[in-house]
Order: sequence, then C-alpha cells, then structure tokens
Amino acid sequence: MTKRPRRLRDHEALRAMVQETRVDAADLIQPLFAVHGTNIKREIPKLPGQYHFSVDRLAEEVKELQSLGIRAVLIFGLPEIKDAAASQAFSDEGIVQQAVRAIRSQVPDMLVMTDVCLCQYTDHGHCGMVVGDQILNDESLSVLAKTALSHAKAGAHVVAPSDMMDGRVAAIRETLDAHGFHQVSIMSYSVKYASAFYGPFRQAVASAPQFGDRKTYQMDPANRLEALRESALDIEEGADMLMVKPALAYLDIIREVKNKFSLPLGAYHVSGEYAMVKAAVAADLLDHDKIMVEILTSIKRAGADVILTYFAKDMARLLQLKG
Ligand code: PBG
Ligand code: ZN
Repeated sequence: MTKRPRRLRDHEALRAMVQETRVDAADLIQPLFAVHGTNIKREIPKLPGQYHFSVDRLAEEVKELQSLGIRAVLIFGLPEIKDAAASQAFSDEGIVQQAVRAIRSQVPDMLVMTDVCLCQYTDHGHCGMVVGDQILNDESLSVLAKTALSHAKAGAHVVAPSDMMDGRVAAIRETLDAHGFHQVSIMSYSVKYASAFYGPFRQAVASAPQFGDRKTYQMDPANRLEALRESALDIEEGADMLMVKPALAYLDIIREVKNKFSLPLGAYHVSGEYAMVKAAVAADLLDHDKIMVEILTSIKRAGADVILTYFAKDMARLLQLKG
C-alpha cells in the first residue's frame, strides 16, 4: 500500500494541521430571554443552563459572554401582556426594546440581534394576525415591520424575522430604510421548518399556538426545493443573511443553500436539539463536551457561517480552556 490515509492521523499536531473545519467563538450567537421585573435570573426548566433575565441583570450576562469571546446575542422577550394586536411587540417600552437599550449602553461592543415575530405577543400564539382560524399574511406585514423598526430604534444592529409570512423581508427593509435605518441588517429565517424541535422554546416563552399549528406558514420538513425558493425570494427582497432552522436534522439543506447562494448563512441549532443533548448527558448516555463540539462542527462543516445556539457560552468556555 502506498496510500495510507491513517498517516495523516498519526500525530495530534498533524491531525490539527489537516483539520478542515473549526468552530470559533466568533461564529456563535447566544440567544437570550428577557423578562419584565427586577433582579431576575431564573433557570428555564426545560432548557438547563438557559435563563430568564430581567433587563437589569442582562448586561452582566452579556459582559460574561463577551469575556468568553462571543460577539453577538439574539434577544427574545416575554411580554407581560399578550393581545390580538401583538401590541407589546412594537411598543417602545416593550421587553425586547428595553433589553436592547440596556445591552447597547452597557456592553457597547456586543452585536445585538433581535428575533422579530409576533407569537410571543399574540394571545393566540400565532406568528401573524389572525381572523377566525386564518393566519393572515399581508395584514401581518405592517405589524412585523413596525416591530423591526422599534427594535432598530432601540439600537438593534440586526433584525431577524422568524415569522415566515410571505414578503416580510421586503416590508421590513422598506420600513427600516424609510426611517433612515439603512445600516440595520436583516438576517432572515429564510428556511424555517414546521418542526417539533421548537418544543422547549415554546414552553420557555409561552408561545405555543392556542389553536391549530404553524404548518400554513412554516415549511414542510419533507421539502428541499422549497428551501431554495424561499432563500431566493429573501435575497430578492433584500435579506443580508440567510438562515436554516433547525440545524442538525437539516444539514443537507444547509449545504445546498450554501452551495446555491452567496449570502452569509446562519443555522439555528434550536431548543429541542439542545435539550436532547442535555437530557442524554443527564442520563449518562453521552459526553457533554464531545457531543457539543461534534454537533457544532458538523453544522459548520455543512456550510453554516454562523450558528445560533444555546451552547454558545459552553462552547466558548471550552474553547477558552483549550486555548
Ligand atoms: C418565533 C421563534 C421560534 C423559535 C425562534 N423564533 C419558535 C417557533 O417558531 O415556534 C424557535 C427557537 C428554538 O426552538 O430554539 N417564531
Ligand atoms: Zn413566531
């Protein structure tokens, strides 16, 4: 045998030299949950290691993330009031808006992204306006655009619409530009599947739909070509970055979107994916750090430039330890 692939695996330094994919702390975006009240840092039962933070406690967490090398956070909010109009989604005193202002003023170097959706804010738990059992598309666009605008006014650098209404990227871009926010980026959840992996998140923010499901707006997990159509539309509408969500069960989609389009691509390793690992580790089935590294590396190898993950802090800490 003249060709022996094992030669390149013979020495740890050689393995490191030929390693094709590395996950860096700067690739990771940590999702954070803001709640009303003061002095709250309460662990989310179904998401071990993740917390509800009141706005006064957020900056200390964000500073710690920064000290670990994390450069960006994605803000979700739990409003006190849910109503049919989603009024707390676009209020200047809304929970996300307050959280963004606090982080911008206290941790100026952190990149602040916001999830733009209505499901946490509507009493019915759907991501758009509702009449009867219909989730209205065009009527939802102005509400989403108002929400994105209020996030930009609060200081968000990047808005990330996760609602899956048709035309929302264009509506948001137009509204942001009309108010002078040309520099605020849109990271669109372009390829978002109607997935059962969002379960723990919906419990964490009490956003499960009160009737029906999200299948009339989120995508069928069986579909691949539709992912390409959705991505192409978002690019046309002015998205700056694309995203595939969830991640691990959709690595083929990540690779295909990355190959077909040139925009930076995010992948959202979602709550259920994270919770499964934590549960398996608690049951002594898997090694936490090894599984975490393997999963995040796989997502990056598949083509994701950035990974939105509840593991961001754990991973950054591990990277720092390893030097
Ligand atoms: C809001 C939103 C969801 C997630 C991100 N933004 C939930 C959903 O669509 O039901 C999921 C995040 C996760 O599971 O970690 N639309
Ligand atoms: Zn939603």
